[in-house]
Amino acid sequence: MCGIVGYVGTQSALGVVVDGLRRLEYRGYDSAGVAVLADGRLLLAKKAGKLSNLEKALAESAEAELRSGLAGIGHTRWATHGGPTDRNAHPHLSADGRIAVIHNGIIENFARLRAQLQAEGVEFASDTDTECVSHLLAAELAGVPGSPAALAEAMRKVCGKLEGAFTLLAVDAQAPGAVVGARRNSPLVVGRGVGENFLASDVSAFIEHTREAVELGQDQVVLITADAIEITDFDGNPAQGRDYHVDWDARAAEKGGYDWFMLKEIAEQPQVVADTLRGRIGETGEIMLDEVRLTDQDLRDVDKIFIVACGTAYHAGLVAKYAIEHWTRIPCEVELASEFRYRDPVLDRSTLVVAISQSGETMDTLMALRHAKEQKARVLAICNTNGSTIPRESDAVLYTHGGPEIAVASTKAFLTQLAACFLVGLHLAQVRGVKYADEVAAVVAQLQEMPDKIEKVLGTMDPVRELARELATASTVLFIGRHVGYPVALEGALKLKELAYMHAEGFAAGELKHGPIALIDHGTPVVCVVPSPAGRGVLHDKIVSNIQEVRARGARTIVIAEEGDEAVVPYADLLVRVPRTPTLLAPFVTTVPLQVLAAEIAASRGHDVDQPRNLAKSVTVE
Ligand code: F6R
Repeated sequence: MCGIVGYVGTQSALGVVVDGLRRLEYRGYDSAGVAVLADGRLLLAKKAGKLSNLEKALAESAEAELRSGLAGIGHTRWATHGGPTDRNAHPHLSADGRIAVIHNGIIENFARLRAQLQAEGVEFASDTDTECVSHLLAAELAGVPGSPAALAEAMRKVCGKLEGAFTLLAVDAQAPGAVVGARRNSPLVVGRGVGENFLASDVSAFIEHTREAVELGQDQVVLITADAIEITDFDGNPAQGRDYHVDWDARAAEKGGYDWFMLKEIAEQPQVVADTLRGRIGETGEIMLDEVRLTDQDLRDVDKIFIVACGTAYHAGLVAKYAIEHWTRIPCEVELASEFRYRDPVLDRSTLVVAISQSGETMDTLMALRHAKEQKARVLAICNTNGSTIPRESDAVLYTHGGPEIAVASTKAFLTQLAACFLVGLHLAQVRGVKYADEVAAVVAQLQEMPDKIEKVLGTMDPVRELARELATASTVLFIGRHVGYPVALEGALKLKELAYMHAEGFAAGELKHGPIALIDHGTPVVCVVPSPAGRGVLHDKIVSNIQEVRARGARTIVIAEEGDEAVVPYADLLVRVPRTPTLLAPFVTTVPLQVLAAEIAASRGHDVDQPRNLAKSVTVE
């Protein structure tokens, strides 16, 4: 979950690394630090709190050499071992001050390693698991003349002693002009420049310098100098990375005039949904997913689907289940990835496991997919991050084209995940012949209308912003929905919890009377996600009754309903209109007001909308 940057080249390493950290701060913001190699010295600066604290300290620092170094590493932390203090901030030095290390992940055998090192007389300066690595590297290099090759060799030996998940970067005061990295179960990507090279947790850290990237494999060590990138496995055998070109530029990772990344990302939703559909639909409305690498026979053999995911991606899966079962008639279960492997799910060769993840690095989802593969199931990843671990370890992948999602709260990823899931569902139905071509084409045409409909919703958000100011002092907000509106209610509540730090809960509207209705008090805001009255009238009528039930008990109802739905008017204290949309596709439009509501309430309460407390964008620990 931490962000990591390394640089060797001709520019000020401090400048490049701090700029990179700014783009990676979404990964964690408990502390930040840098180490720079300059004139044979290893210079360090680190501070608890957000990157701005470090930047302030650097601006006040008299250490001009810090700016002159041409190689360095930097870290932005999401604390696991040891509180978010200056002393626990990375980089961590070896006792002799020769080696500096930064780390993302958890070294599971750190307690044993620490005890061994302490028994050998090493004194620790922090409570972190990471510091072990600095001391272990120093021990490997003791008496060895410093060189890039020696540093890489020491890193390989140390990795052999580590258990758990880690991305590590290290520099050696005696090996100027080199940064060494290693990865196991944690992301690390190389940026290939001209006369300069980069290492980072993701490409956004170096995108303004180069769009040529190299994806590293599992259990690999990489050494970068200004002119070379050398990759080996942990045993020292030469290894190859996968070169790829990043097809978005630095502007995509900037705020573009919005106060918060989240607001920019909400506004990008029409575009990214269109991008995710583009190129995957043929002229006659057929689905074309050749890129997915699953043969038609593979898809015909599927007799059960599991969707595994976390948080917002899990909610996308819950929506997808309704569509997939309806279109394909294949049983589809949706599981929280963190629970999946602990309950011994029934899986075999004809099970398709769909792992949904924006980052492609979520450890819970990764572990679920590994479990599925061990049981011989086929795994299809739906992912937004090219080259990340989840798609790499899956049998097949369908990328969402959301572009970089920087705000910690997921918005555009959710809608693109819906689009990708719907493509998969329709493709399965098409290949298995359970839907006629014209039926598939009809749904495809509806899907293609979604970008315009989302745009329309975005144009009518002023009343929601006004409502947000009123609700900023509420103590609780409840969300109810039925059918695909139920996961939308869950998603609305999740957004509000994580951004506004308010009590918020989503319920299936029919469940209220089985307990939760006791929560309703005079004035309790209840957001009601209403399905279209067309198509499934019963569903609509039932939720209208549920709205009346909560209103009769004093609730203040905020009703999200489609244009022309007059039946809800008498029961809505505030009515938010969305365009008419077929029931299964409604989450594309009904989710948007809930995203805006959460962002605006958080802003009204004075919170950091992009970096809510205690969270990180990429959750690489279990
Ligand atoms: C909520 C949110 C999280 C993520 C979850 C999964 O706004 O962003 O709940 O959806 O941590 O992350 P990915 O999709 O990267 O696997």
